[in-house]
Amino acid sequence: MFKDFPLIRDTKKSITQFYPHIPRNYMSALRRVFSTRWVGQGPLVDKLELIFSKKFADNQPSVAVGSGTDALHLAYILADIQKGDEVICPIFTCTATNIPLLYIGAKIKFADVDPKTLNIDINSIKKLVTRKTKAIVFVNYGGLPCELDELKEIAKKNKILLIQDAAQSLGALYKKKPIARFADFTIFSFQAIKQITSGDGGMLTFKNKKILKKARRIRWFGIDRLAKQGGTWENDIKEIGYKYQMTDIGASLLLESIKEFKNIWSKRRKIFNTYNFFLKDNKKIHIVDHSKEVSHSNWLYTIILKKKDFLQKKLRNHFIESNQVHFRNDRYSIFKKFVKNKKFPNMDKVENNYLVLPIHTKMKISDAKKIAKLINFYIK
Ligand SMILES: Cc1ncc(COP(=O)(O)O)c(C=O)c1O
Repeated sequence: MFKDFPLIRDTKKSITQFYPHIPRNYMSALRRVFSTRWVGQGPLVDKLELIFSKKFADNQPSVAVGSGTDALHLAYILADIQKGDEVICPIFTCTATNIPLLYIGAKIKFADVDPKTLNIDINSIKKLVTRKTKAIVFVNYGGLPCELDELKEIAKKNKILLIQDAAQSLGALYKKKPIARFADFTIFSFQAIKQITSGDGGMLTFKNKKILKKARRIRWFGIDRLAKQGGTWENDIKEIGYKYQMTDIGASLLLESIKEFKNIWSKRRKIFNTYNFFLKDNKKIHIVDHSKEVSHSNWLYTIILKKKDFLQKKLRNHFIESNQVHFRNDRYSIFKKFVKNKKFPNMDKVENNYLVLPIHTKMKISDAKKIAKLINFYIK
């Protein structure tokens, strides 16, 4: 029989770290797709892009792709990041943020982490800006928006592009405004365990409406797909694209999930608030939470504590998964050449102390209560 190991077996007794959210009407949505000629990229992708722009992207153009990683790679190409260009990047993130830059041959300049929010450290960015800096890439860790006004100011002052990895922050707000408003490019992920999912999928949104046609071409080898559907030779390829597109199968699931987004968000928020309520007075724990300025997307609930390993083992004994989810990127061999003789004191401070607790729509509020109470029992 299939075993989930090293993850905990998914039984009635266990509480898993993540669980995909499958929309209620997924079967009828899929049946509709399979009764048409479009199972690859078709009209549902177009429909999704329009709805997404309105609901999540401040009416910016949206281009649906096969993953958040695709969206990042596409953003870097559209931002004209070239071999040798300096790009300031977060050291603490999913490796997907930084790996596409390796394909391009950009020079990654890692910025340290803010030890309280686990977002990119603004002071560290300021020290890294040079005349060769082409872009700043930042991640809203776990769904917690960065200091977007400050980032915007640095970018404007130095005439550099801002690329926002919002893979984890669908629906988050900064000063009551959609986060996409604050960056030149913003990407989202619909990977299996994100708030909404198409199994894998992503979305790229951007400010400059003039590059929409180009973005669509690069998504499809460099070909104008609509023109090609005419069936005659009028399609020279003048720029190198790739196959980044989303399918109508995926789009159908996302369209259904977007209808449920309010409920998904509020269920996750209730879990978040339950943890907060029970853990807020525990002096041994720092909660990575939002300020009054921002609204969190509730993707990850992260705590920082000295006895991380001890707690993780204890929770596991109760069949509760917890995880670090991401690891500092300078630990990976592929990034080694960018970190020689570099110091990241904040990252050093927190790297063994952060822990992500279960949060997903299959969980009950009583599960979060149970976990928080166990934490207070073990961490005094
Ligand atoms: C911060 C961050 N960036 C990028 C990605 C990549 O997204 P995807 O898995 O959809 O390619 C992820 C996701 O998993 C992520 O968490």
